[in-house]
Amino acid sequence: MKIDILTLFPEMFENVFSSSIIKRAIEDKKVKIKIHNFRDYSKDSHHKVDDTPYGGGAGMVLTCQPIFDCVESLKTKDSKVILLTPDGIPYKQKIAYDLSKEKHLIFICGHYEGFDERIRSLCDVELSIGDYVLTGGELASMVITDSIIRLLPGVIEQESHQNDSFNNNLLDYPTYTKPRIFRGMEVPAVLLSGNHKKIEQYRKEESIRRTQEKRPDLLEK
Ligand code: ADE
Repeated sequence: MKIDILTLFPEMFENVFSSSIIKRAIEDKKVKIKIHNFRDYSKDSHHKVDDTPYGGGAGMVLTCQPIFDCVESLKTKDSKVILLTPDGIPYKQKIAYDLSKEKHLIFICGHYEGFDERIRSLCDVELSIGDYVLTGGELASMVITDSIIRLLPGVIEQESHQNDSFNNNLLDYPTYTKPRIFRGMEVPAVLLSGNHKKIEQYRKEESIRRTQEKRPDLLEK
């Protein structure tokens, strides 16, 4: 998979993509990520990327030209262009699965007060990571790319994400490791029983119980 990210703040991505599982996925060539500063595409003599809003109002608005030129230089027939915006579709695990099957993703990170409405015409999908407003789309694009990359074949063990929270609208079951007793808190006996059928049954029940308790809205789906 290839991922291109358009931003005015490339430095924000440095640590995130050079650590842990994402770093390994890049080294193993499971994903190729390129960060583009769309200021470099500005045709303005001062490399301006924003301007005042028509009709008045506070703040500056990202202009079309640098973003259009940057996207058009990257886009092929295999590309999916994604805009990060608080008024986008709420991002969910199901969307992560769907996007993990794409060949090429292009993320556009908005910043400042907003972007020219015509930038939406470039995009195949608009995504929001939650009902709150971030200072820009950068963190949202990191969240989304992280959740997609871990689903790519060979990045983590298949079994690890078969039981992920939100698969089948259920939260993940509880897990434990050594020691068997820590500060009086014991590991459930069934997990020590060696009876795989019983363990599977316990995990299924715990998954449902936990979802009922913490996220009953998921069960209604
Ligand atoms: N940009 C600003 N806030 C955002 C959000 N909640 N999701 C995606 N992009 C954003």
